[in-house]
Amino acid sequence: MTDMITQVVSCDDSPAIARATAILRSGNLVAAATETVYGLAADATNDEAVKKIYQVKGRPSNNPLICHVLDISMAESLVEVSETAKLLMEKFWPGPLTLVLPQRTPTQIAPTVSAGLSTLAVRCPNHPAMRSLIKGSGLPLAAPSANPSGKISPTTAEHVRSGLDGKIEMIIDGGATDLGIESTIISIDQNDVIRLLRPGTITSDEIADASNKDILDNNSNHITAPGQLESHYAPDALIRLNAKTALAGEYHIGFGEVKGNFNLSETGDLSEAAKKLFTAIGKADQSADKIAIAPIPLTGIGLAINDRIKRAAAPRPQTDTDTDHHLNSNGNE
Ligand code: TXA
Ligand code: MG
Repeated sequence: MTDMITQVVSCDDSPAIARATAILRSGNLVAAATETVYGLAADATNDEAVKKIYQVKGRPSNNPLICHVLDISMAESLVEVSETAKLLMEKFWPGPLTLVLPQRTPTQIAPTVSAGLSTLAVRCPNHPAMRSLIKGSGLPLAAPSANPSGKISPTTAEHVRSGLDGKIEMIIDGGATDLGIESTIISIDQNDVIRLLRPGTITSDEIADASNKDILDNNSNHITAPGQLESHYAPDALIRLNAKTALAGEYHIGFGEVKGNFNLSETGDLSEAAKKLFTAIGKADQSADKIAIAPIPLTGIGLAINDRIKRAAAPRPQTDTDTDHHLNSNGNE
């Protein structure tokens, strides 16, 4: 793909938002802030446009994308929304909960969005940048995190630019994202069974309370969300977990009393830690070849943080992802 100039514009700049929606309508890509991480958006009804997402990210074509909608009624036009699903949408939308539901047939959604699956992941974001793109274009938008495949998710416009500069036309800057880690993903099947596919800031307990149902852990024999592949969010540096002290040469990411070179939250606040997590890993990756991370409690949002740092620390397979790695040796995507 030939390089282009990537414009960074503010989410309050309405003429720029109008240009961004025109870019989307013409089948091209725009990155934008959401409340979780920055997303790389394309018209979800245009197969050629969605293919560009896979190309630009170097994403394996069997890893489906989340479809972003403006509200429950847009979701209802795309997927079968059971009573349980609706209850959860009413409780948590707009917000960081993604639901994997059976697609309606026939559908306008391009088959590449779901990588050919009969389900579709729908999410209603709570940030004016992504919302104004959906509203302005009138389109459901397919959007993965706006980073090269396998790298950590971007939480600022600058992170997006350093990973995708010259590959996309525009980035809608909405500042540092509020939550810092990707949405919680659940699936609800035809028997109304809820499974947690990816932990996030909305916890399994909150979903259980709201739905009055048990939440099953995803059966790990069977990959339904490839974001669950062991190695993901991989920085270049090697990572050691549960480190109360640093060894020689390690950059130490602290939490609470474990001070470290950079502390995720001196007061031990897990929301604050989630918000700073990817910035901390990016900073550490630029500063050292080895990273140590303090213990993070396995409760509440701590479960999602531990999920992400475990993946960041996992052994790296020799795959395409490794190629991406060398292309992005600044380690800060
Ligand atoms: O917070 C978020 O969810 C961000 C922002 C941009 O909205 N998006 C995001 O997208 O994290 P991505 O592509 O990085 O992660 C989406 C995950 C992947 O692990 C994918 O496998 C899973 O969602 N997924 C998408 N469609 C699915 C489906 N039909 N069934 C199971 N998993 C699905
Ligand atoms: Mg991602």
